[in-house]
Amino acid sequence: MDRLSAAARLMIVSDLDHTMVDHHDAENLSLLRFNALWEAHYRRDSLLVFSTGRSPTLYKQLRKEKPMLTPDITIMSVGTEITYGDAMVPDNGWVEVLNQKWDKKIVTEEASRFPELKLQSETEQRPHKVSFYVDKDKAQTVTQKLSEIFKNRGLDVKIIYSGGMDLDILPQGAGKGQALAYLLRKFKCEGKVPTNTLVCGDSGNDAELFSIPEVYGVMVSNAQEELLQWHAANAKNNPKLTHATERCAAGIIQAIGHFKLGPSTSPRDIKDESDGEVKSIDLGHEVVKLYLFYERWRRAEIDNSEIYLSSLKANCCPSGFCVPPSGGEISLAEAINQFRKCYGDKQGKQFRVWVDRVLSTEIGPGTWLVKFHKWELSGEERACSIVSIIVRIKVI
Ligand code: GLC
Ligand code: MG
Repeated sequence: MDRLSAAARLMIVSDLDHTMVDHHDAENLSLLRFNALWEAHYRRDSLLVFSTGRSPTLYKQLRKEKPMLTPDITIMSVGTEITYGDAMVPDNGWVEVLNQKWDKKIVTEEASRFPELKLQSETEQRPHKVSFYVDKDKAQTVTQKLSEIFKNRGLDVKIIYSGGMDLDILPQGAGKGQALAYLLRKFKCEGKVPTNTLVCGDSGNDAELFSIPEVYGVMVSNAQEELLQWHAANAKNNPKLTHATERCAAGIIQAIGHFKLGPSTSPRDIKDESDGEVKSIDLGHEVVKLYLFYERWRRAEIDNSEIYLSSLKANCCPSGFCVPPSGGEISLAEAINQFRKCYGDKQGKQFRVWVDRVLSTEIGPGTWLVKFHKWELSGEERACSIVSIIVRIKVI
């Protein structure tokens, strides 16, 4: 939360499964397009929040499987666990809020009397979340009966049905919407309410996100019936909500453009960067472009031309240095020279490169330290290295 000294320009609060992450896109192309857009144009002054139904265990598993960025804030277990930064520092204040009128033992005991409910795996049972599977046709009746029972036992709980199969029981004050409202209250106290917030989702547990006042919202094209029904019944006339025509992360990019929240062309959608005139130097954007070039070079998606390499060297601040983790320095020009050896070695193969957490700090007048994590996916293998680059920008 403290990474930005001022209010975020844009805060994206996105669900993961079938929203940010498309499980039907084996190459993860829309996610990679989003990643490039975020690191090039938003990371510096905006906030990325993931809000998932997954427990920390399953969330970490997904991060290993998919090329996901590191969010600033992670909300897990359907809004019952909030953590900050890469270190995932828990918000204990939120835990205290959730303890009110909640008794997990009673919830589990009462729910276990329903044979229609099948308990989910142990990892998905959390301090403030009890989760089951239930068939679509039984969901409504079970929910009504359970609500009645809990009320009689003096518990104030919330029952959410998602994805046509998952039934979560949470404290009334929990859920993805309440967790976001809590974060917004915190930002308000600090005088740092984001200029714009965009919420993104596809299923029942995301509905609450769309009822938070002031936020923009996108239901991705592949949204579930239960979310579309909720929208038709509760928010049809809200002009700040849209149903994208594109799936998952591509739908999120589409919504950024639709609501004019900032740049919405991913660097991955620009085939020839040399076409554009050189504008002011944005270091995040330069890093994204450099590694996109590297990916396309090795995949032989661009011509093997000296002209490309020279223009890259010229554009890449001639005074740039890479600092390998082992120490020492190599000039960026030298690093680019080494590209020659590997032209086309990944042609026709699965090979992707993406950068995460690109952050620049001015360490002296006109001298910047740019640090980021660079990922390479080659076939089944994934490798990460932490890169530091020092660039000196001529102040004209
Ligand atoms: C995720 C969680 C599961 C939950 C579902 C819907 O799949 O792993 O426990 O029921 O989201 O919220
Ligand atoms: Mg989802």
